[in-house]
Amino acid sequence: MTGSLQTAAIENRISPESIPAVVLPTGARLPKIGLGTFGNDQYGAERIAEAVSYALSIGYRHIDCASVYGNESAIGIALNEAMLDGIRREDLWITSKLWNDKHEEKEIIPACEKSLKDLQLDYLDLYLIHWPFPNFHAKGVDVSSRDPNARPYIHENYMKTWRQLEKLVKMGLVKHIGTSNMTIPKLKLLLRDAEIRPVTNELELHPHFQQPDLFNFLVNNKIVPIGFSPIGSPCRPERDRTPQDTVDIEDPVIVAIAGRHHVHPAVVCIKWAIQRGQIPIPLSVTPSKILANLKATVSAPLSATEMRQIGGIDRNCRLVKGQVFLWKGSRGWEDLWDLDGKITPA
Ligand SMILES: NC(=O)c1ccc[n+]([C@@H]2O[C@H](COP(=O)([O-])OP(=O)(O)OC[C@H]3O[C@@H](n4cnc5c(N)ncnc54)[C@H](OP(=O)(O)O)[C@@H]3O)[C@@H](O)[C@H]2O)c1
Repeated sequence: MTGSLQTAAIENRISPESIPAVVLPTGARLPKIGLGTFGNDQYGAERIAEAVSYALSIGYRHIDCASVYGNESAIGIALNEAMLDGIRREDLWITSKLWNDKHEEKEIIPACEKSLKDLQLDYLDLYLIHWPFPNFHAKGVDVSSRDPNARPYIHENYMKTWRQLEKLVKMGLVKHIGTSNMTIPKLKLLLRDAEIRPVTNELELHPHFQQPDLFNFLVNNKIVPIGFSPIGSPCRPERDRTPQDTVDIEDPVIVAIAGRHHVHPAVVCIKWAIQRGQIPIPLSVTPSKILANLKATVSAPLSATEMRQIGGIDRNCRLVKGQVFLWKGSRGWEDLWDLDGKITPA
């Protein structure tokens, strides 16, 4: 960090103990805000790692990583420096994720070990299966490209992968395990068959995509919802945009509430997420925004009326559709999301 950023960090630091957290059945404390780290294409790994350093210096303790983001080794340097500067490992919450090309039983433990090595850690607080499919695509391909070997969800195979995650817990390499981009029917099968339950599911959640059924299912089953793209991913790459997409931070309800609180609409999205009961993991590489998002967790909450107004926004805008994971014969991206309540077959 530059000298002026270091000075800003000292002036702006919020005590990590004052940041709200979920206390899990293991006794672990999961901070109710994390920093996202998916953004190499726009910002490069070094800039994301700098954002991690700045975030830790002002009081963040939860960082959402993934091997596929391509920046775990840069983030590892930032984490190591933060610990040399006095942040205790046990006060950090570090998530990583198993990428789709590593679902084979023999690949999983080495994949986790690689993330640990890159992140310069002895254990992860949370390891997620990034997507419930072993399907993957070459970096940078168009959303219309298809992997010829792609398959739909096969529960038997998912459980083989899950068993290896359970093994990682038993080996002490991972404290908690969880899922990402799952649906209710898939989670029901996992809950039926898991020896170690998922503590979290990471899913897309923002005011224009509230997923109430899945959100309620998670809460009722004591699975903590971690909400990705909490601001509606306003700077996502062009390939992830469609003409139908709507913009959360331009929504008149959000803009009006932001005006009353004298904050950016993004901050309203963060407050809404935390008060609703999900954990937002906004990405930013801009110190003032990183700070604004952290402050959102400790400043004046939204009123019950404001929460109701946002809850009543009638949009259903999924941004991360996952088209590149579709298999031969599938009809469209909706097939990934089991919209009729049943797992879409081949
Ligand atoms: N599990 C999964 O499959 C999955 C999928 C997608 C994302 N994720 C995770 O979720 C994280 C966040 O999602 P995301 O990056 O798609 O979207 P996001 O957090 O909704 O949006 C990020 C954008 O919002 C801007 N922003 C952040 N705080 C702001 C503020 N206070 N005021 C104004 N603008 C603000 C940032 O601007 P600047 O860049 O200018 O700072 C950044 O461009 C990812 O980084 C990743 O860790 C997980």
